[in-house]
Amino acid sequence: MPAFSTDTAGTAVSKEPDRIFAKPLAQVPDFAFNEDVVRVFPDMIKRSVPGYPTIVENLGVLAAQFAQPNSVLYDLGSSLGAVTQALRRHVRTDGCRVIAVDNSAAMVERCREYLNGQDSMFQELLPVEVIEGDILALEFKPASVVALNFTLQFIAPEQRTALLSRIRQSLLPGGALILSEKLRFNDAEEHALLTDLHVAFKRANGYSELEIAQKRSAIENVMKPDSLEEHRERLLAALARRLAGTPLADWANTLQVQLDKKMEKGHGDLERWQSALDALPKIQPSEIDLLNGLKLDTDCNDETRAQMRTALMGLSPWRKGPFDLFGVHVDTEWRSDWKWSRVSPHLDLKGKRILDVGCGNGYYMWRMLGAGADSVIGVDPNWLFFCQFQAVQRYLSEPNAWHLPFPFEDLPPNLEGFDTVFSMGVFYHRRSPIEHLLALKDCLVKGGELVLETLVVEGDKHQVLVPEDRYAQMRNVWFLPSVPALELWLRRAGFTDVKCVDVSTTTVEEQRGTEWMKYQSLSDFLDPEDHSKTIEGLPAPMRAVIVARK
Ligand SMILES: C[S@@+](CC[C@H](N)C(=O)[O-])C[C@H]1O[C@@H](n2cnc3c(N)ncnc32)[C@H](O)[C@@H]1O
Repeated sequence: MPAFSTDTAGTAVSKEPDRIFAKPLAQVPDFAFNEDVVRVFPDMIKRSVPGYPTIVENLGVLAAQFAQPNSVLYDLGSSLGAVTQALRRHVRTDGCRVIAVDNSAAMVERCREYLNGQDSMFQELLPVEVIEGDILALEFKPASVVALNFTLQFIAPEQRTALLSRIRQSLLPGGALILSEKLRFNDAEEHALLTDLHVAFKRANGYSELEIAQKRSAIENVMKPDSLEEHRERLLAALARRLAGTPLADWANTLQVQLDKKMEKGHGDLERWQSALDALPKIQPSEIDLLNGLKLDTDCNDETRAQMRTALMGLSPWRKGPFDLFGVHVDTEWRSDWKWSRVSPHLDLKGKRILDVGCGNGYYMWRMLGAGADSVIGVDPNWLFFCQFQAVQRYLSEPNAWHLPFPFEDLPPNLEGFDTVFSMGVFYHRRSPIEHLLALKDCLVKGGELVLETLVVEGDKHQVLVPEDRYAQMRNVWFLPSVPALELWLRRAGFTDVKCVDVSTTTVEEQRGTEWMKYQSLSDFLDPEDHSKTIEGLPAPMRAVIVARK
């Protein structure tokens, strides 16, 4: 066993100082994690990476927040196992085990020795398996924590997204990837300043100018840091990948920045809703049905079901649904499944790239996937709906559905990239209905299909109701045309093959208050004596679904 000492609160490491680049080298070879580096690695990394001991220690603290019982914690590119040792110091969750992986034989051999050393210093440490292997070829087990501590930067840039996507797939719901990297800065001045500071840090740690210069030239071909923007963009990368090569590719690449800005602004209740999301049980569905309804299920006990129910209740009121989530029936205000069974027989969504404008909590988006859609992007500015979407989405492993908490107006003009665009329950809220139709048309590819659902009134093509004030208690209702008028407007906006596939009067069975939506609902908005009228004496809600082609 090599000589080791304990430095950061009980980490077993070698003390040998790093002098690898101290003497002039005729030719500086590319840096490698070989036996020479292994011997001095703890000293090298501590003197070269500002804040390294704190980062490793905090990684353990963070991991303890995310570790789930009986799950795996990965330390990828584990080197001498500093992160593994921190995980073992901090994680106290029952049944966890660590899998440390590194492709350097010298690192792995020494790592095993150090971990044995740590074993002898502590009792009841998490079991560890150290694997010598390539993380790019690793068969991941379901994991609650994956640590990539200064490792991704050593992976070839073109392979990074694929690796992150495989990690994403292996993460249990509520699990975490903890990523630390050196950053590159897009702004040249900022990059120069940070490089100077880094050199000063190394100098202060006793490295000579020669050592700094030789190490830089050794490592520059091997370690290729990304900018923060590149890291962020990769996180919405699955969407960008899905849209690569389509007319939406450029737009997809801008979304992460737009989303980050929205997140920064946030919403007063976001913290409360986030706590509800955090309280959702960490389970995986063994049964997923998006075709006949929205049902996820697995074997789970009453306690888990109660936990699920309480967390979902924390995201009330639930409007669109219903959802059957692991034995909990979320009885939403709307029987959206009824509407879907009236509309979906008229649509062929197989392989389609879809935009759902005003997507609410995403109920229809998943039903669209159930009907064979390739991918669905929904936009809706309501943060609660965004959180409800996350609550369900987390249990579906990588479904091709993305909810963007943006108003429709925030989409750039002339996207011209969707095969199908849905606008359901949005049109009557628009002050400029024809502008809305034109904007929807701009999102479609040529020949694409619009599915428009809105409130209508009886009458011929000259008939349209503009409420003087409220309509069914809603303040922001503007235009309720007759079906022939709406068809005419669609034709004037340049659509063809305009046809109405469904007209139905909304019943108090289809829209009603439930324990998941305790506020007033349709029956309170209708004339109590005469359900054919709203409380304001206007025609009661009737809805039409119109399909049209660009
Ligand atoms: C800078 S070190 C990581 C430091 C370590 N995570 C820590 O916090 O102490 C990068 C490590 O990643 C390993 N590595 C690089 N590419 C790898 C790959 N494809 N598969 C597995 N390990 C890899 C290297 O051998 C090296 O030990």
